[in-house]
Amino acid sequence: MENLKHFLLALSAAGAAGFVAIVFVLRWVLHFREGLAWDGGPAEFNWHPVLAVTGFVFLQGIAIIVYRLPWTWQCSKLMMKFIHAGLHVAAFTFAVIAVVAAFDFHNTAKIPNMYSLHSWLGLMAVILYGLQIVLGVGVYLIPVAPVAWRAACMPIHVYSGLLLFASIIAVALMGITEKLIFSLSNPKYKDSPPEAVFVNVLGLLLVIFGALILWIATRPAWKRPGEQMTHSLHTNSGGEDSAKAGPALSELSDGVSAESGGDVRKRSNKLDNQAD
Ligand code: HEM
Ligand code: HEM
Repeated sequence: MENLKHFLLALSAAGAAGFVAIVFVLRWVLHFREGLAWDGGPAEFNWHPVLAVTGFVFLQGIAIIVYRLPWTWQCSKLMMKFIHAGLHVAAFTFAVIAVVAAFDFHNTAKIPNMYSLHSWLGLMAVILYGLQIVLGVGVYLIPVAPVAWRAACMPIHVYSGLLLFASIIAVALMGITEKLIFSLSNPKYKDSPPEAVFVNVLGLLLVIFGALILWIATRPAWKRPGEQMTHSLHTNSGGEDSAKAGPALSELSDGVSAESGGDVRKRSNKLDNQAD
């Protein structure tokens, strides 16, 4: 990998920021707030930020960069797709439970639902994230979509995935600010009590985590190399990858028998990267 040192630096910084953010959100609800419980009260609401940060932000971030980890490049692409999809499904599950906790608390306390911009954007993000999972599984995991469709959908999948990730961090920042304004009364948020400063730092950590994940996921030099896929195309005749790319490979070979094996491999790699 090009610039392995830079990659490891960005990855460890992202891991550290994400881990410390999780510690901070836990300390916020356990030390400054009412703790955690499932009783319809404020302690049930506290699951909302905890699950949003650990699942919807942290797990999603890891899911996004999982293809970029060089030590996974010897694993098959299919296995990596299951890991990518599995982590996204786990993140989605956390997000749904987080939203249920907020609704349950509101209903018990007779607070209206869905009045804030935070709640509108948050619910939209959960719904669109669910849709992204359904489309991701339909197009890339179940071997029915033609290779051309997979290739055409990939830029949209990557763009909408990154847009959702960034938006979800923005939603979390809005939620944090709202919660501080609502719950700090004596002293108020504007007086910068220790809880306010502590939770502002949590917000900064989420921004740093998000920025690093976006950086890692947008460096072309750190992409998983196509060789792995080509290898599986050539050696794994019955596998999912070869089944879906089979026709494309024969198309590549059509009329190129005079080409060197290297040229065919290069073109095949290009196709893998576009379609997979
Ligand atoms: C409420 C989504 C993160 C604080 C809500 C509601 C939704 C939602 C849909 C509406 C619940 C209802 O109307 O009963 C999300 C999503 C998040 C997220 C998708 C993922 C990032 C956070 C975080 C906090 C937070 C990190 C920090 C404490 C709040 C507060 C409310 C709320 C205070 C109640 C007030 C309101 O409805 O705006 N959230 N939230 N949220 N959320 Fe979040
Ligand atoms: C790549 C996001 C679900 C299959 C990506 C990338 C992002 C992303 C940002 C680009 C990663 C990179 O360039 O390194 C998401 C989000 C999802 C989701 C936010 C859920 C909400 C899925 C599912 C599948 C899938 C369920 C099914 C297997 C893929 C594939 C790639 C990819 C095959 C190409 C990896 C490569 O560059 O070789 N996804 N994804 N995604 N995703 Fe997803």
